[in-house]
Amino acid sequence: MAAQRAQRGPGVARRERAALVGLIAGRARRHEAERSLEELAGLADAAGADVVLRVLQERPKPDPSTYLGAGKIETLAASAAETGVDVVIFDSELTPAQLRQIEEEVGRKIIDRTQLILDIFARRARTREGKLQVELAQLKYLLPRLVGAGDALSRLGGGIGTRGPGETKLETDRRRIRTRIHAVSDDIDQVRKRRAQLRERRHKSSVPTVALVGYTNAGKTTLFNRLTNAHAEASDALFVTLDPLVRQVRLPDRRELLMSDTVGFIDRLPHALVAAFRATLEETSDADLVLHVIDAAAPDRERRIAAVRQVLDEVDAADVPMVEVYNKCDALTPDERRRLTDLDPSALCISALTGEGVDEIVETMTSRLALDVQRVTLSFDPDDPADRDRIARLYRHGHVVLHETRDGQASIVADIPRRLADRMSAPPNTRSTRRRRDEAK
Ligand code: GTP
Repeated sequence: MAAQRAQRGPGVARRERAALVGLIAGRARRHEAERSLEELAGLADAAGADVVLRVLQERPKPDPSTYLGAGKIETLAASAAETGVDVVIFDSELTPAQLRQIEEEVGRKIIDRTQLILDIFARRARTREGKLQVELAQLKYLLPRLVGAGDALSRLGGGIGTRGPGETKLETDRRRIRTRIHAVSDDIDQVRKRRAQLRERRHKSSVPTVALVGYTNAGKTTLFNRLTNAHAEASDALFVTLDPLVRQVRLPDRRELLMSDTVGFIDRLPHALVAAFRATLEETSDADLVLHVIDAAAPDRERRIAAVRQVLDEVDAADVPMVEVYNKCDALTPDERRRLTDLDPSALCISALTGEGVDEIVETMTSRLALDVQRVTLSFDPDDPADRDRIARLYRHGHVVLHETRDGQASIVADIPRRLADRMSAPPNTRSTRRRRDEAK
């Protein structure tokens, strides 16, 4: 964590002091509210704040003008002053009116859960597309909050909730923000087109793709690095992975696949952000296989699993074949492990950190991807450079069972991905192609 903080750079001289505020909707919900506030504390930490105060109020629903009740707001103002709080973070989305009213009464910078998550995304976005998407989500969040608030922007003054588009751009009127929204949307469209072209090219090359998904902090990047021998940053801070990284993996049967590491999901992801990151998550709906990485040691494991499944549903990826991988099994007691495998005998129990079970993932991927393999028999002219390319492609993307040369013709029997088989089955006239298809078992 120290290294992570050091990386935050000279721009952030001092960590802000934060107060967290949540509601308990009835006695039975206390545990849920506490858990949610705990997660909010993790998010605040990721955004560069130290939590110095937590306030939970029991009430069935938020007060329409101040979220908390009048008395509680007064107490909050007094405690915030006493503990030197810079920013008060509310554990749900506030209406523009609530935001202004609370700010007036508490006299501190007020942000809500959505703004906090947007801020973290703004810090972490690495590619141009990621940055544009975050900016768009921030601008959209900001727009309704400008209504009737002449100095709403200057009040922000820096720190959490103000990164991304930047204060100079934000200190402008609604018209200019709308213009900016249009410009950013156009840019995103262009980037999306390029992404679609790249994806199309990948399709044509017939290389299967596997997408890693999972709740934030599940260990996706660590596993990605294990599987691809790459060194993308793995960190304890949430949301490090904002832009999908795509890398090549070679399976033991010598076939290649492309693996993408995607953004970490989280419960109650701001809706604007789900929409904004649709393009990023399109990688997932387009994959041949999804590896759902689960933090086996998380106390609220089931809730996280459900949250991820829901987002996958929202981005139309629910139908992609999925393998659930329980990570961090090194952190489980033998009893907990047993319970997990009793619950789901097919569960892959692994540790991306120690490497335990990673071979099993590779085996599972190999067999799951092989479901879409076909056996073909093809003839080639080895003197034809184009045919030599095709032979090389068969070796690269398929498993060659037999390769014979007779009367100047090469005859090859191979198990290859269906997509490649379809392309190979439309031969030019010069090539005699016999094809026999058997579904591989
Ligand atoms: P986001 O980018 O926030 O979505 O996170 P991520 O899912 O990519 O997680 P990441 O790989 O960054 O790992 C998060 C933390 O969990 C890091 O501190 C890792 O060292 C730790 N971690 C990852 N895999 C394991 C594991 O198998 N066992 C244990 N004990 N810790 C792990």
